[in-house]
Amino acid sequence: MQLKSHHLLGLEGVSRDEITLILDTAFTLREILDRPIPKVPTLRGKTVANLFYEPSTRTRFSFELAEKRLSADSINFSSATSSTKKGETLKDTLRNIEAMRIDFVVIRHASAGTPHFLAQYLDSSIINAGDGAHEHPTQGLLDMMTLREKFGKLEGLNVVIVGDIEHSRVARSNIHGLLAMGARVGICGPATLIPREIEKMGVTVYPHIEDAVAEADVLNVLRIQLERQKSGLFPSLREYRALFGITRERLDRRGRDITIMHPGPMNRGIEIDSEVADGDYSVILHQVTNGVAVRMAVLYLLAGGKSKLEGEDNG
Ligand code: CP
Repeated sequence: MQLKSHHLLGLEGVSRDEITLILDTAFTLREILDRPIPKVPTLRGKTVANLFYEPSTRTRFSFELAEKRLSADSINFSSATSSTKKGETLKDTLRNIEAMRIDFVVIRHASAGTPHFLAQYLDSSIINAGDGAHEHPTQGLLDMMTLREKFGKLEGLNVVIVGDIEHSRVARSNIHGLLAMGARVGICGPATLIPREIEKMGVTVYPHIEDAVAEADVLNVLRIQLERQKSGLFPSLREYRALFGITRERLDRRGRDITIMHPGPMNRGIEIDSEVADGDYSVILHQVTNGVAVRMAVLYLLAGGKSKLEGEDNG
């Protein structure tokens, strides 16, 4: 089996079989990361342009690492030192980079729909590394990989996403991916940060964190985007923490295990307490490791790789 598209623009519309293929491949490739020499020749001769128009630590570094682990060549774009500063359009920038003969574009951009726009003009495979508040598909995939690793399957799991759902590309990709895989998805947060009619997507809305903590197998805690406070979407950080913060006391009241995820970067002491983020229930750093494996899998499959890693001495 192969992926249907040669782009990864989002998880909306990606089938259960395709997600399973990506996760299976990621589990196979993850073993490479623990080898004494963690490098295979799988993507030798391929070139990846990493274009991050917004800040990133985890996504950018894990894409770069994934490319190096698979022996692809990488070029990294910085908008601050590029001709974007001289007024060049995004489309012109990308068409010029593509003219240098590249195979993949990994792009993060503040505007929703940017990867879809570029897909109309470029022949390269485009991978969405986060577009505005729209989608962050590799984050959704690495979250699902981490859950499958922990629980063995995704079907039937109750995953509640907590925080600013309205502005979260992580939430959207998780919702699409988890529902496709047969998980139950809940959301919980201030009413001003919950999209209207989101129930129509098939998710359950939890107005109170206590109910979410009581019922969920997993809490995926989102970063509170501090700039939203200025626009009046929630009253104060102290009140947010009091109403929705994931604290040790809240988890202790539940009286049984729960799994805690966070895509990072975290605001410790606001949406999540350090005791929880660094505690026994947390899989946050597993998410980060799995991020490298998922991005290796996506690059491998978009390059035309099939379900079994074939025809290569990966040693
Ligand atoms: N999770 C995530 O997208 O983190 P970065 O912004 O650091 O890439």
